[in-house]
Amino acid sequence: MRRFENQVAIIIGGARGIGHAIAERITKEGGIVCVLDVLQSELDELIKEKIVQNVFVVDITNEVLLNETIQNILELHGRLDILINSAGIVGPTATKIEYYSSLDFQKIININLNGAFNITKAVLPQMVQQNYGRILHIASIGGKEGNPGMVGYTASKAGLMGLVKGVGKEYADTGVTVNGLAPAVIATPMNKDTDPEMLKYMTSKIPMGRLGTVEEVASLVCWIVSKEATFNTGFIFDISGGRATF
Ligand SMILES: NC(=O)c1ccc[n+]([C@@H]2O[C@H](COP(=O)([O-])OP(=O)(O)OC[C@H]3O[C@@H](n4cnc5c(N)ncnc54)[C@H](O)[C@@H]3O)[C@@H](O)[C@H]2O)c1
Repeated sequence: MRRFENQVAIIIGGARGIGHAIAERITKEGGIVCVLDVLQSELDELIKEKIVQNVFVVDITNEVLLNETIQNILELHGRLDILINSAGIVGPTATKIEYYSSLDFQKIININLNGAFNITKAVLPQMVQQNYGRILHIASIGGKEGNPGMVGYTASKAGLMGLVKGVGKEYADTGVTVNGLAPAVIATPMNKDTDPEMLKYMTSKIPMGRLGTVEEVASLVCWIVSKEATFNTGFIFDISGGRATF
């Protein structure tokens, strides 16, 4: 399939994990992929392995640098069809709110939620001008259900889902769709930071009894950001092995 021929995609948080798998798949399907991330050596590897076209070291919390980078990409490629936001951190995973530091809370909200606000704002003007765009944020089932011991993560992802629902409606008549995806546990480097008991608890809640794979996530994401997905916006898609009930 060459679903993304002549399309330009930005993947923020695409240096590894879920974003990396999506970057690979969009490139394989003919897209021009630009990855933004904070991990310099992983980004270098993407270029060395010819997995993507351009990489930029950018922190999603740096609004000024983000805007400059989007302008650079527009100068290079002239258009912007897809934004996938896979940037995120998990923060503390076994800490009740009484012991959860304000600094940890502010840090995770800043990356997972304020960052999503920054990047969405940065790409929308071009997409609206083109009368076409696909924005997808990776949220989490934790934001729907609440994971105990992870108040920062849960709150940031719940906020992100609110952002998707509101902004999706704001731009519903522009040709730009704004959606979210709420995965249950997916096997990625992020989970190495998760408390083993918490990981066991989260996996036990998945009726299929296993972790999801990045390839499974990339497969669904690529449909959501394709030209075929014309009547979906402001929605949180599921990929949870049967865990989600709403
Ligand atoms: N892996 C899971 O089980 C799971 C489940 C649900 C949701 N998610 C979400 O999916 C997304 C991707 O997670 P993953 O598992 O691939 O994790 P990951 O840690 O492998 O990848 C996250 C990427 O985001 C980048 N990143 C972190 N902070 C950044 C910042 N300030 N600016 C720019 N980039 C930054 C990292 O460098 C990394 O490349 C995250 O938002 C995560 O919360 C993951």
